[in-house]
Amino acid sequence: MDSPPAKQRIPINVVVSEIRTLTPTIKAFVLHSTDGAALPAYTAGAHIRVQVILPGGDADERSYSLIDDSVGSECRSHYRIAVQLEANGKGGSPFMHGLKVGSQLNIRPPQNDFPLDETATHSVLIAGGIGITPILAMAYALQASGRSFEFHYGTRSPDLMAFRDAVETFRNVVLYFDGGDPRRGLQLESLLAHPADGKHVYVCGPRGLIDAVIATAKHHGWADDHVHFELFNSPAVQGGDTAFEVELRASGKTLQVPADKSILDVILAAGCDLMYDCKRGECGMCATAVLEGIPEHRDYNLPDDERAGGKVMCICVSRAKSPRLVLDL
Ligand code: FES
Repeated sequence: MDSPPAKQRIPINVVVSEIRTLTPTIKAFVLHSTDGAALPAYTAGAHIRVQVILPGGDADERSYSLIDDSVGSECRSHYRIAVQLEANGKGGSPFMHGLKVGSQLNIRPPQNDFPLDETATHSVLIAGGIGITPILAMAYALQASGRSFEFHYGTRSPDLMAFRDAVETFRNVVLYFDGGDPRRGLQLESLLAHPADGKHVYVCGPRGLIDAVIATAKHHGWADDHVHFELFNSPAVQGGDTAFEVELRASGKTLQVPADKSILDVILAAGCDLMYDCKRGECGMCATAVLEGIPEHRDYNLPDDERAGGKVMCICVSRAKSPRLVLDL
């Protein structure tokens, strides 16, 4: 089912009713509506967008997966999310970690861009780090409906493993602690060695894990639509990025994109109204025609031939190989 763009959905005011520290960098939050009303339903894999205030005072939104052990599509008395403190982030996670019980927040209603495939006969669930959040919800849903699945969850060390108690209640879970050595972590070659018609794989975690799952699945012949993923972090800005110029030909504007901002955020800050949703290069809603210049693609949405053609790009995450881009905006 298609969801409307997040920015078009009406915010809900919620209050933080519980905060738990799960690891040195991860806190879990329980949210109730401020008026006591039931919250909109969701299914496993869904997320909410939370309005955060960044250090400079600007408001922005961050997506957090919903974790729950209840099943079905009924309305919810509360939402539960978990947030990892990102030392090099833009300030969304410090805002969340600074919340107190009783703090109020504006959120967007749940949206599911990472749903379970209802036709799957077997699901392979793979989580890395804080990527456990949607994967745990999926495990609850699959277990409750009696469907076949396996569950793999890796972190660097046991003290960094959020929700370990809950995860260990699943008899089919395998935990991995790599100690910083990927060879001791998730064994993707063996996990993905045998694709089958009804078999689907779901992965959430850092970009390196998702890229490795996609590459390994491709190598073993998995169909693209049987490999589902959700990035935990936006890949928009990386170390070593540099500034470049963007001309919006139809609008007659020329903007500078600094090393630490995405094209989309710069255009929005300039007062332009654009369609976007995930801001992680997954949904394709921000895909924009490129009139001049060479894009550096960082999305997971465009097909290989469109990426190679260089005539369209997802401006929420992709950047420029050339000093200047001209976009059809
Ligand atoms: S907003 Fe989803 S790909 Fe850009």
